[in-house]
Amino acid sequence: MANEYVPGNNPLRDPNDKRLPRIAGPCAVVIFGVTGDLSKRKLMPAIYDLANRGLLPPGFALVGFARRDWADQDFAKEVHDAVREHARTPFREDVWEQLSQGIRFVAGEFTDDAAFDQLASTLRDLDRVRGTGGNHAFYLSIPPRFFSVVVKQLMRSGLSVSEGGAWRRVIVEKPFGHDLASAMELNEVLGEVFPTGSIFRIDHYLGKETVQNLLALRFANSLWEPIWNNHYVDHVQITMAEDIGIGSRAGYYDGIGAARDVIQNHLMQLLALTAMEEPAAFSARAVRLEKEKVLSSVVLPADLTKHTARGQYDSGWQGGRHVKGFLEEDNIPATSITETYAAIKLEIDSRRWVGVPFYLRAGKRLGRRVSEIAVVFKRAPHLPFAATDTQELSSNALVIRVQPDEGISIKFGSKVPGTQMEVRDVTMDFAYGDSFTESSPEAYERLILDVLLGDAPLFPRHREVEMSWEILDPILEHWAASGQPEGYPPGSWGPASADEMLARDGRTWRRP
Ligand code: BG6
Repeated sequence: MANEYVPGNNPLRDPNDKRLPRIAGPCAVVIFGVTGDLSKRKLMPAIYDLANRGLLPPGFALVGFARRDWADQDFAKEVHDAVREHARTPFREDVWEQLSQGIRFVAGEFTDDAAFDQLASTLRDLDRVRGTGGNHAFYLSIPPRFFSVVVKQLMRSGLSVSEGGAWRRVIVEKPFGHDLASAMELNEVLGEVFPTGSIFRIDHYLGKETVQNLLALRFANSLWEPIWNNHYVDHVQITMAEDIGIGSRAGYYDGIGAARDVIQNHLMQLLALTAMEEPAAFSARAVRLEKEKVLSSVVLPADLTKHTARGQYDSGWQGGRHVKGFLEEDNIPATSITETYAAIKLEIDSRRWVGVPFYLRAGKRLGRRVSEIAVVFKRAPHLPFAATDTQELSSNALVIRVQPDEGISIKFGSKVPGTQMEVRDVTMDFAYGDSFTESSPEAYERLILDVLLGDAPLFPRHREVEMSWEILDPILEHWAASGQPEGYPPGSWGPASADEMLARDGRTWRRP
């Protein structure tokens, strides 16, 4: 299988040397849902950024499929505008020129056989004139209710199978269902048409440098492993806070809410990577196996009222601006019980973690945009100081800042300079910007490239997705029966019940 394009086909190149740039082999990417927000803000810019970094081969093509009356040039203009507005790397005419020659558009409905036959003929044509080699990736950036019809069309039109060693892959965006049953149904639909190894489920958090660095931090160092367990760790807080509201995404968000939107996927993945054992190798199989072991050991608290919390943002002032409450947002029914904030407590039934709560929280319109994993350590068993000397000393913590200000910090106590003995919290900081000159690629750049290379470690397998739903389903059912979520002011850190939830355990949330 010719996945990789090796310039000059250097015989000295060690295929295991991961430091060398990995360049995709000839291929075409077809995006379904090109008129959507994700496509414009993330996918098209990521493809341009890859091209700009020299990671796409000359034999590359981008095909858009949508219900618009567009010619190839109209779609190319859309891509151009999206790139100009959202690309991470500078715009270069020569790169754009090369990329745009491989841009095509196919107009049609998902139910339209003729449109898919047209897509097949466009791809055949590109294989011939552009040298895409019969390698095709189909990106389903569409609501999951259309997955089934699109993959069946790909099968009917012969696009899901290839000949002569070429590959066909399908990329699916979340949500992977809205509960366990629907996730299983989706997995079945995909599995009927594509073999397991050709299905790539995107969880863009796994494409973030800082999230991958969690594996380096844990498994490339000897410093943490001895204390990464219930002897030393008091608890773990995983936070994904956003300062924005739902914007124009009412159609997607209502009925989904914070837990389904980001806890089921992003935060569960962060939990699995934080808690998992060392994988036998950095291979898709080994990493997924370890993540699955963690997810299968997760236990829910018996009392979900006391150990979970949810809220909805109220209207009010945030950052000097008056903002609408969730129930006043356009197209949100005034009776909606969808949560915009969710916090849950989970435990992991394993020798390493038993007794260590993992608190997960996510919300919109909170005080700051910040995603982080904080491993909070137990207090020193004995302090040979007077109580007043350590009043400003809290627990040691290792904080992995996923975004923004990507980095890692360690919080510990230090003596305040002077004649007295006073110990106060200080932090030691690693910031990506200080240590590396390269800026981090966008998550989608990394993940799209991995699909084109057929590299699977950063993509969740169907069992992981199902296991996350198994964990979440009872909480969602409990909330559905509990009426209206509690309000919280915009710019705050969520509803009072979330603070009470931790206070009951004698702990407090971090205020990043
Ligand atoms: C998406 C959610 O997965 O992640 C959005 O659907 C959220 O609701 C977004 O805004 C945040 O992504 P990031 O990378 O900015 O943390």
